Amino acid sequence: MSNNPIQLLEDEHLIIAKVIAAVPVLADRLEAGQTVDLEMLHGAVEFLQIFADKCHHDKEEALLFPALINKGIPQHGCPIGMLTSEHKRGRVLVTELTGAADTYQSGDPDAKKTVVKSLRELAALYPSHIWKEDYLLFPLTNKVLSLEEQQALLRQFEQVWDLVGRDVHHRLKQFAEGLSENAQIC
Ligand SMILES: [Fe+2]
Ligand SMILES: [Fe+2]
Repeated sequence: MSNNPIQLLEDEHLIIAKVIAAVPVLADRLEAGQTVDLEMLHGAVEFLQIFADKCHHDKEEALLFPALINKGIPQHGCPIGMLTSEHKRGRVLVTELTGAADTYQSGDPDAKKTVVKSLRELAALYPSHIWKEDYLLFPLTNKVLSLEEQQALLRQFEQVWDLVGRDVHHRLKQFAEGLSENAQIC
């Protein structure tokens, strides 16, 4: 377990990146008319809803961003305003994907187009979002938050894990590892 809140977020980015790397593979298979493991598709949706948004984005939006704003970093514009609007866009896309995946599973072939579109947009959104945080936001955080403030943030982050459920967090992390291996094989 990480003893630094930035390291913890960077580690979560690596896990999220595994799922995001597999997302275009799912989209390609659907577009090519190949069979897609619906369990895998729903697993990816659940991962994006719970691990990426509820667990990871919530730590940033509800805890890290306010701590930085409190230190005088502007709430609007770059980087915090931009990152917040990307979180919102991600939520819209995941909601769209969830509905379309359910409709696709119920046998409506027209839903496939929306599933593919949402998957492709998510695959485009996440890597640049993660890059901005790793290379702009986190170095900025290290400059403006003292070690004591970072330790307090880490404790708050751990409470988010408790709220989501550490078993759920662990299960979704395992899912990301498995999905990543599966996507590489195919
Ligand atoms: Fe973020
Ligand atoms: Fe992040």
